[in-house]
Amino acid sequence: MDLYTRLARPTLFRVPADTAHRLALAALRWPRLWEVLGSGPDHDPRLGLELHGLRLANPIGLAPGFDKDCDVLASLQHLGFGYLAPGAILRDVRPGNPLPRMGRLPAQGALLNCMGLPSKGREHSIRNLRRLERRRVPIFAEVHGVTPEEILENVAAIQPYAEALEVGLECPNTRDTDRTKQVATAIELVHVLARARQRPTFVKVPYFFRSEQRDRLPDLLDACIEAGLEGVVASAARRQQTDQLSIGYGQITGKPIFQDTLALVGELAAHAAGRLTIVAAGGVSTGRDAYAMLRAGASLVEILTAFVYRGWAAPALINRELLGVLQAEGVESVQALVERRDRASTGRGPFTPLPT
Ligand SMILES: Cc1cc2nc3c(=O)[nH]c(=O)nc-3n(C[C@H](O)[C@H](O)[C@H](O)COP(=O)(O)O)c2cc1C
Repeated sequence: MDLYTRLARPTLFRVPADTAHRLALAALRWPRLWEVLGSGPDHDPRLGLELHGLRLANPIGLAPGFDKDCDVLASLQHLGFGYLAPGAILRDVRPGNPLPRMGRLPAQGALLNCMGLPSKGREHSIRNLRRLERRRVPIFAEVHGVTPEEILENVAAIQPYAEALEVGLECPNTRDTDRTKQVATAIELVHVLARARQRPTFVKVPYFFRSEQRDRLPDLLDACIEAGLEGVVASAARRQQTDQLSIGYGQITGKPIFQDTLALVGELAAHAAGRLTIVAAGGVSTGRDAYAMLRAGASLVEILTAFVYRGWAAPALINRELLGVLQAEGVESVQALVERRDRASTGRGPFTPLPT
């Protein structure tokens, strides 16, 4: 067992999850320390890949939500991630939901959260991004907004300081009854976004598409393809009732959403047939999980819950495990796997086809 699982995690798990997150962010305020403790990027060429003009040391990214305000990127870049996705970045200072807004389900390897998009505001993040002079890994800034206009405004403001963008299309407090309308808004937004963006841009597929609006998902994918966006982020994080959180429900993430995310990645990949890059974000905690996502159609895999459960060594451990699986399966590299898979992709999957 490593230092984190033996000592740090038991200590952190004794305090409320929100406090543990604050403590972790405080510990990550010393980049010099993490330069020593962290594993640095893994330079094994079998893990590297090039995508949309970006060169990544490995396909494992840190998902949005851990470093919402770009406060600790200088330290995180020493931990062995292939890229970092800070955010969600919003225009204004927002308090988010009241505490407690994070919880844990240790027996399931899961987290619960109802953050409610807290933010220190866009200018704060921009200051931090400008200060990050020695960039070791690409930054995929996650830009959000409470209205479509704000999302576009934030994209314009943030893109000069990031190598790529992830864009959250889903507004935080949408009632279930408004969601069909939101699908239409999201599709419209994709077209405007594609014209406005100057960086590779990945749209976060809103979670509600997977239930009653699932049949509109192909429309959103087709809009992304037609508009020329680079890709989508797939996550099967779903809503769960809980008395651990202040508002009585939240998103569950981690191991319980792995299978659903894997299925979603497969469906998106089948429909996109190599025309969109798919980022898997849900329940990956081992190299074998990451490999399954890559096989299913993802080119990048981002983690958050596994970072909490496996600690600062998580990206290095997952990458090492991934190398072991590649070797065992006789696959020469991540890049080769992704390219071969996309070449073999024959076209539309289980979703409604585009009109010809
Ligand atoms: C505490 C917490 C905060 C999050 N905040 C954001 C966010 O601000 N923006 C976003 O797009 N996703 C957010 N997410 C979702 C993650 O980026 C990721 O998609 C999700 O946790 C699934 O991956 P995992 O199972 O590896 O944790 C958050 C997740 C957690 C647990």
